[in-house]
Amino acid sequence: MTVLVTGGAGFIGSNFVYYMLDKYPTYRIVCVDCLTYAGNMSTLKEAMENPQFVFYKTNICDRKGIYEIFETEKPDVVVNFAAESHVDRSIENPEIFLQTNILGTQVLMDACRQYGITRYHQVSTDEVYGDLPLDRPDLFFTEETPIHTSSPYSSSKASADLLVLAYHRTYGLPVSISRCSNNYGPYHFPEKLIPLMIANALNDKPLPVYGKGENVRDWLYVEDHCKAIDLIIHKGKVGEIYNVGGHNEMRNIDIVKLICQKLGKPESLITYVADRKGHDMRYAIDPTKIHRELGWLPDTKFADGIDKTIAWYLENTDWWEAIISGEYQEYYEKMYTNR
Ligand code: NAD
Ligand code: DAU
Repeated sequence: MTVLVTGGAGFIGSNFVYYMLDKYPTYRIVCVDCLTYAGNMSTLKEAMENPQFVFYKTNICDRKGIYEIFETEKPDVVVNFAAESHVDRSIENPEIFLQTNILGTQVLMDACRQYGITRYHQVSTDEVYGDLPLDRPDLFFTEETPIHTSSPYSSSKASADLLVLAYHRTYGLPVSISRCSNNYGPYHFPEKLIPLMIANALNDKPLPVYGKGENVRDWLYVEDHCKAIDLIIHKGKVGEIYNVGGHNEMRNIDIVKLICQKLGKPESLITYVADRKGHDMRYAIDPTKIHRELGWLPDTKFADGIDKTIAWYLENTDWWEAIISGEYQEYYEKMYTNR
């Protein structure tokens, strides 16, 4: 079995690469990533030593390059993680989000049609459902919740989802889609909430909380997301959408305070800054379908996952210090100075 993984040098894609190499030693894992600011070859260092792993530095929008990889590698299954993934960046510059997240998805599916695959899996997000109000804790996103996006990022992901479903209905492409809540864990790029707060706290820098910090996210340890995708590509039904989330809702401010406490840093580092434009209030996934149909349940509780994550950032300072000392500095100044 050959599994082509796009975006495998990023956060979730790299965790999936390691998960698959470990669980299926006979599978060939073909990684395609163009190494944007979010892709990192040092993340794939160990994978590169595995003879079952091969890496192509290619953009998913590059039709010729992608077709050549399909011609050579003949993948059975394609899992598309490659995306521009940061909401704040999509507010600054939507265009690249539309290119990669929509047109890149189209190129991959055209290649799948041309060369034949058994499954194309699209890694999507709960953000396609928009947000829920804080005063209705009884409401959750199900697979039937209408798409109702807020940011250019979530709009691009929702557009891609529609295209994936259209390729299934129109061309009979064997597709599946997962819509997951917020992930956390090793190799999470430090522009995102949890790793940003860990890195800043360790450097005694201000911890920039948007608005009042009351927004709620539903956090899932990244390995549990990988397990869900593994189940869907092997046992999930073609043409179906599966929501993935662990019923672990937390307010941003509580996460930031917890990180301060775990690292022995004062809460006085917390700085309230201007809110994100169009900021979604609450995400909450109902994972009943994937539990009932595929038996998926998360294994890692937040209390354990956050300890493992903090321990990983303490043990791997080289990994994130190299990132935050580079072009990230410019990004950080632009987004946070005088905010
Ligand atoms: P990430 O930003 O950490 O990684 C994205 C990877 O894709 C990088 O390695 C980057 O180099 C690569 N990439 C970007 N554009 C590319 C292109 N045009 N061609 C080839 N490679 C390209 O993202 P992530 O957080 O790991 O998210 C992965 C996927 O999961 C995304 O599709 C995202 O929408 C989805 N998702 C993320 C979360 C989350 O909490 N992070 C939750 C649900 C769904
Ligand atoms: O829900 C799934 C989504 O989760 C994925 O589709 C996205 O790719 C992923 O980036 C993530 O989106 P969020 O916008 O929820 O994640 P982020 O880490 O950017 O922000 C989490 C919350 O923390 C959000 O309410 C904004 C807030 N925040 C974020 C940053 C970076 C802050 O208060 N301060 C910050 O500096």
